[in-house]
Amino acid sequence: MGLEISLENRVALVTGGGRGIGKAIAGALASAGARVVIASRKKESLEQAAAELGSNVVGIPCHVGRADELEELVTQTESQVGPIDILVNNAATNIGQGPALQTDTAMLDKMVDTNVKAALRLVHRVVPGMIDRGHGSIINIVSISGLKPQPGGLLYSFTKAGLIMLTRAWAREFGPRGVRVNAIAPGLIQTEFSAYFWDDEARRAELVGDQPIQRLGQPNDIGIAAAFLGSDAASFITGHTLVIDGGATA
Ligand SMILES: NC(=O)c1ccc[n+]([C@@H]2O[C@H](COP(=O)([O-])OP(=O)(O)OC[C@H]3O[C@@H](n4cnc5c(N)ncnc54)[C@H](OP(=O)(O)O)[C@@H]3O)[C@@H](O)[C@H]2O)c1
Repeated sequence: MGLEISLENRVALVTGGGRGIGKAIAGALASAGARVVIASRKKESLEQAAAELGSNVVGIPCHVGRADELEELVTQTESQVGPIDILVNNAATNIGQGPALQTDTAMLDKMVDTNVKAALRLVHRVVPGMIDRGHGSIINIVSISGLKPQPGGLLYSFTKAGLIMLTRAWAREFGPRGVRVNAIAPGLIQTEFSAYFWDDEARRAELVGDQPIQRLGQPNDIGIAAAFLGSDAASFITGHTLVIDGGATA
């Protein structure tokens, strides 16, 4: 058996694929041979990312917090590219940073809409087709903050912990019907999303200096793992949360 990861003839949908981790995941999936749809809100940056990633990648604008746009995203993906084999729930938001007692239910609703309900809606829309075809792979991008509370990030941790539990529950239910469901829990990865943690020299040194692997994670550290989990090379792996954090939680 060869060691190469092949995603030839596979179709992947990556939410939040316009930059950062989602863009790296799309690039890794396309490098392995998949045809990939990336989806995020800003049309211009999305189209630019798709052009950079090559002819196997197309961008379809979508706000994942809106049910009608998610429905349209799947319909467009299926008609333009084909039935979805790999779904990567990557888009997320992190509002409501601060002390627990300063968070409110409006923040909670927005966090749940974007970080949890979008994944649930896409799974409900896409998994029946995967089951009919006898195979599929779902990858949920969570966070080490879903395993251990992020200081000042109660709602973020709550939504990521919820997605970890959905991952395990979906894996149990869909596994016998050929659909695997896994999560990736990144540590600190150098993207726009996490700039607060790394653009200040002292804060960055404190965080990275405490890690066994003493560098910032890069989006491609996650992209490579997603290509593996999406492929048949990972056919015995489901219900798993793969921590990729330079050892920060070791
Ligand atoms: N970076 C880290 O250190 C880190 C650590 C742990 C986990 N994560 C997780 O990794 C994932 C990706 O984060 P990142 O660091 O790559 O973030 P990023 O660089 O900010 O990229 C986020 C992407 O998602 C899109 N997006 C944001 N909100 C969206 C929405 N409502 N609907 C559709 N698309 C949306 C953005 O494009 P538009 O603005 O154009 O929509 C962008 O393409 C998230 O789930 C995050 O929680 C990141």
